[in-house]
Amino acid sequence: MTRTFAPEELIRTENFIGGRWVPASDGARFAVTDPADGKLIAEVADSHVADARAATDAAAAALPAWRETLPKERAEILRRWHALIVANQDALGALISREQGKPLSEGRGEVAYGASYVAWFAEEATRVYGDLIPQQHRGKRMSAIKEPIGIVAAITPWNFPLAMIARKIAPALAVGCTVIGKPAEDTPLTASALVLLAQEAGVPPGVLNLITASRGRGIDAVGDWLQDGRVRKITFTGSTAVGKHLARESAGTLKKLSLELGGNAPFIVFDDADLDAAVAGLLVSKFRNGGQTCVCPNRVFVQAGVYERFTALLAERVSAMKVGPASDASTQIGPMINSKAVDKIARHVDDALTHGARVVTGGKRLPELGPNFYAPTVLADANSSMLLCGEETFGPVVPLFRFEDERQAIEEANATPYGLASYFYSNDMKRIERVSRALETGLVGINEGAISSEAAPFGGVKESGYGREGSKYGLDDYLSIKYLCQGNLV
Ligand code: SIN
Repeated sequence: MTRTFAPEELIRTENFIGGRWVPASDGARFAVTDPADGKLIAEVADSHVADARAATDAAAAALPAWRETLPKERAEILRRWHALIVANQDALGALISREQGKPLSEGRGEVAYGASYVAWFAEEATRVYGDLIPQQHRGKRMSAIKEPIGIVAAITPWNFPLAMIARKIAPALAVGCTVIGKPAEDTPLTASALVLLAQEAGVPPGVLNLITASRGRGIDAVGDWLQDGRVRKITFTGSTAVGKHLARESAGTLKKLSLELGGNAPFIVFDDADLDAAVAGLLVSKFRNGGQTCVCPNRVFVQAGVYERFTALLAERVSAMKVGPASDASTQIGPMINSKAVDKIARHVDDALTHGARVVTGGKRLPELGPNFYAPTVLADANSSMLLCGEETFGPVVPLFRFEDERQAIEEANATPYGLASYFYSNDMKRIERVSRALETGLVGINEGAISSEAAPFGGVKESGYGREGSKYGLDDYLSIKYLCQGNLV
């Protein structure tokens, strides 16, 4: 029978190294708080270099045996882990909402989303094929096999505290890598709970290790992984600035990297679009997690002929959104993760107003709810001189840009160094073909706002990073190809 845990039983406040829950080597701790009211949830291990090193030592010791397990044995462990995550969906969802702030329905949804990657990679574990290369020389057999790359360091963000780490750990374990992980300092508890369930599922000691750390000490701890030649792969989701830092600092040991970085997603509504569908798609994609999602539309381009109608339809829906703490089941938009995040949103909106934008709805903080709340906002008359055109706002703000023709829309959509997601709405088949090809992003939603799936390759181009998560391609980042040449066969 799959064990279910009471919510408080899922809370772990120590590091998980070599199969044991241990405090930071110097006993340091830091506070994890609820972003809705700032109240303390728990104090957790504040790791430093010695803890990072201990995690690497444990992963190195466990690697030889783990990489020799059969794929179907690893798949079985992942299946048990998946069953445990699903059985504990309510408690995990509530924990996500509590430390991250997303509404309860989204917290539960994230658990299902993260679990879907574990199920997916449990299946994929048994499908890592190599190739027998067509014969080139008599008496020689040439083949290519795939091997686990080695120790994987997984560094994950706060906006999806369960799904992002699950979709890194699952493929790594599936192919026989061992893992050292560090979740974001704002949301370490969900990652620790997930690791507890992995332990319960039978992941052997040392195969999966997790350290938690506050920002400054976390940088030093990760720094040790970047320099350590035993760590062969870094998988990271987060900002482009940090992604570049990781690439630079790990260059000394030439690690393989997968970087899922910032976006500046365009969402284009053409005159020929179904406007109701476009509004519904925008609401789904923009307001997921209160706009704190890398694939959230950041710039909404609306063709002149439908601009006013689209603005009115959207404003009606956005102004009706319920903002509040995650603990209230009717909440649709929770608090932002911290005060820095709200300050950035306010700065973007203020800057847009000074550059000619008009508030259609929202456009203000909500101090009556708490310091981290910001009203869902629609801004009309956005233009390229505004900060929110060049930078990801990461909040519930929709700036509406007006465009005249397809060429202008594509040019403006692509006028960014980022290239993670894009969306467009049109009912013209030829335009759909042209625009899908012209958009410079790794993911394109066509008449669809909900694009993420464990079966699809997730990842960006340009400064949004490289590597793909999920799908049949998702194992490649954790494998290296070895060529075998056997001679003197005849
Ligand atoms: C992210 O925001 O980085 C991930 C979003 C997703 O997986 O859909």
